[in-house]
Formats: sequence, C-alpha cells, structure tokens
Amino acid sequence: MGFPEDFLWGGATAANQCEGGWNVEGKGMAVSDFYTAGTVSEPRFTTYITKEGVPGKANMFETIPEGAYRAILDGYYYPYHEGIDFYHRYKEDIALFAEMGFKIFRMSISWARIFPKGIEEKPNQEGINFYRRVFEELKKYHIEPLVTIFHYDLPVYLEEELGGWNNRELIKHYVKYAKVLFKEYRGLVKYWLTFNEINNVAMMKNLLPNYPSSKIQKDFQLLHYEFVASAKAVQVAHEIDPEYVVGCMIAGGPSRYPLTCDPKDVLLNQEMLQENVYYASDVMVRGEYPYFAERVWKKYQIELDITEEDRKDLQKGIVDMVTYSYYCTSCTTTHEVKEKAGGNLDMGAKNPYLQYSDWGWSFDPDGLRYSLNEFYGRYQKPLMIVENGLGAIDILEEDGRIHDAYRIEYIRGHVEAMRKAIEDGVDLRAYTPWGCIDLVSASTGEMKKRYGFIYVDRDNEGNGTMKRYKKDSFYWYKKVIESNGEYLQD
Ligand code: BG6
Repeated sequence: MGFPEDFLWGGATAANQCEGGWNVEGKGMAVSDFYTAGTVSEPRFTTYITKEGVPGKANMFETIPEGAYRAILDGYYYPYHEGIDFYHRYKEDIALFAEMGFKIFRMSISWARIFPKGIEEKPNQEGINFYRRVFEELKKYHIEPLVTIFHYDLPVYLEEELGGWNNRELIKHYVKYAKVLFKEYRGLVKYWLTFNEINNVAMMKNLLPNYPSSKIQKDFQLLHYEFVASAKAVQVAHEIDPEYVVGCMIAGGPSRYPLTCDPKDVLLNQEMLQENVYYASDVMVRGEYPYFAERVWKKYQIELDITEEDRKDLQKGIVDMVTYSYYCTSCTTTHEVKEKAGGNLDMGAKNPYLQYSDWGWSFDPDGLRYSLNEFYGRYQKPLMIVENGLGAIDILEEDGRIHDAYRIEYIRGHVEAMRKAIEDGVDLRAYTPWGCIDLVSASTGEMKKRYGFIYVDRDNEGNGTMKRYKKDSFYWYKKVIESNGEYLQD
C-alpha cells in the first residue's frame, strides 16, 4: 500500500501573501492591500479615511465606517505590498520547488491584476501575461499548477462601490473573471479551486465577540452568492475544457472534538461541524443545501435571497473534487472553557492531549486521518490536502543553515497520517503544505511566523535582502518526495 504512484506532492501559496508588486503593470487595489502588519497579540487593521476626511483603522475582520474609503496612511507598514517579491523572483522560486521534486504547486491569481476594478470588460493584458509566464515556467519542470481563483483579495472597487459579496452582481463579475482564466490558460492549467476556505465566513460569528445578528444575515447571504458564483464557474470550466478538474476548498475540515463525553458536548460539536463546515461542502459537492440548513437559518433568523435559478445552478455546478486546509483541531464544550486554543478561525477549547505551537495551534496528525475518513465517507470524491504546516520562528545560522527539526516532525506526522488514511481506503490525490516558501502570515501579517521549506530573509518590519535559503526541511521533504512518502526519518 502506501501512496499511489501518481500522488501529487507539492506546496501552496497565495498571491497577496507572496507576490508583492502590489501596484505594478496595471494591477488594481485589492482589499488586502490595505491590511497593516500585526502580531500574535495585536490585530491587523484596515486603514481608511472617513467621509469627513479623518484617518482611521478597523480590525481587518470588521467593516470600516459607512462612507469611509480604504487608504494607505503614513506611519503604517503594509507587508503585502512587497510580500516576498515572488512577482520578480518566481523563476528562482520555481527552480527551488523543482529541486525539491514538486509535482504540483498551488498558487492563487490576484483578481485585481486581471481586472483592476473588477467591472471592466477587457482584462489587463500585463496581468494575464504574468501568470502565463509563471505557468510556462512550471511546465518546464513538469509541475502542475493548482490555481485558486479567489483567495481573500477582492478588488477594492467591488467592495466599496458595489458592496462586495453582499451584492448579487458580484456573481456576474466573478464568472467573467473565471471565464477569462479558463480560456487563457487552457493547456497550461488543469486543476482549479473556486474560493479559498469558502466556509470561513460562516465561522466569523464564533470568532468575534458580540457579533451582531445583522452581520450573520449578511455573512450567510454572501456565502450563498459565492456558492452560486462557484457553481456557475464550474459549469463554465467544464464547457471550456471537459478535462478541467475543479474543486471546492474548505477551511479546517471536521477538526473539532467534543471536549468531554457529555452527550451535550457531542451534540453541540455536531451542530458546530454542520454550521461551520458541512453547510458549505454539502452545497458544493451535492448541489443543494443540506437538511439542517433550515435549522441554521431559523436559529440565526436568516432570510436568504435564493431563486429557483440559483438552485438549478447549484445542482449543475457540482465540484469534481474536495480539497481542504488542515492545520490543527480544537474542542467544543457546553461546560466552562478553562483555556482557549488558537487556530485557523476555529478557536475552541484547548485539548489536554495535544501539544501547541507558539501561536497556540495544536499538533494533531490523528485529526487529519480522522477528517480524511470523515470527508471521504461523506462524499466519496477525490480529496486533496491543499494546506497544512507549522508556523514557527526559524533561526538563520551564520553558515546559512536553518535547523527546523520541529517542522520536519510536524510534516512527518501528517504524512504518516495521510498514508494511514490511504490505507483506510481514502482516495487522496495530493498534498500541498502551506507556505512552502516563507511568506506573509494572513492572520497576523508577520514574516516571523514561517511555514516554508525555503527561508526568505525578510523580517516583520520589512528589512532583509529577500535572499532565499534552504532549510533542513527542504532536504528532508525532497527525500520524502523522491521516495513517494517512504522515507520519513532523518
Ligand atoms: C489559511 C489561509 O487560512 O491559513 C492562508 O488560506 C493562511 O491564506 C493560512 O496563510 C495560515 O494562516 P496564517 O495566519 O498563519 O498565515
């Protein structure tokens, strides 16, 4: 048994976290261009100017005041502006991925590079050319691109002038954008993901204190428009090229456990999974809302704008594969929470049986095997793990080495878990660990929280040469790929 011969080993990134080149060659502004740098204890902000002309900032997860416009302000640092300069260094980076033996590379396209405002009829040719060059470079090394069409970087015009995803019109603009990509990159790309971690908007209500019910209504409405946009894009993709494989991308997987065996904890945990995870994946994989959706709408007094046409689109736009990000797990309880866990938007109670990273994320490879079985049992569709990894502080030694044994241990645990899941009978096709090259953290905006096999000389304040160094994990992962997952010890 073990990994199938054609298993796709690789790594994953996202445009705004690594490209830089935020205002070059016709690129428009994205909402993420206005995110400042934060830390584990200090949130990232969106900066703006109010309609009265007063500069201000709001937590990146919150909305800015009515009538305000996002603005780049003096005195703030915006780490996405330069990222790790993948925009200019992609050839060097792809050569390093090839050296590790990557078979697949997950990346996203910046919508605002293709349609600067989002509403134009014609795309920005320079943006189109950039990604073509990247795909051609990957092809040189026989690396398959796995392309996320939308990864947290909406063109700011669509957000501010049209109201973002709360406006049904966004569906039209998204589908036009996706269609351009499907046409332009035919023959260069085979695997597509429509929305990164589409379900995370359903989790916002658990993340921020005193979340208003009007916001929950908006969140579930925009999620519905995204489902429809995704389903329409799947249809267009298959019309343009029946060989295209299009997947959904779900955050976290069923990564929660009941904290105790109190049946009330078990029931609450099930409810959380339904709301936060399966609500989204069921729609995208089965083409209709699950039976418990009515209960969710009732619970939060959600009135959904959903048409007969939408329902038909959802049915026609079923995805070909299920992909998800998996970092860590947490627990649900109806009892007092003594200690909260950190995590990827899913911060439940701390699990006493697990170890935690400096950012409070747990190390739980068994949870990966569990979630793979859960997803496969539910859908029987091919699966890909498209994000996984350890965000940690690395030290660049004087001799240019980085000894990241902790990262090797983390990835080894998860590779072993995947192998066991495959032996359980799960149809797992690919593994793309997150931030295969160090990049800017999405939640905190730090460089210090590093995931890569490749170290990038850049710090939290924007100092550094951007030079790339191979970490110990680079050499180790190369051997893992060479041996198709057989070599795991170092
Ligand atoms: C996922 C996102 O939520 O987690 C990535 O898709 C993100 O964009 C990753 O970078 C890791 O989170 P963080 O906050 O450590 O960068």
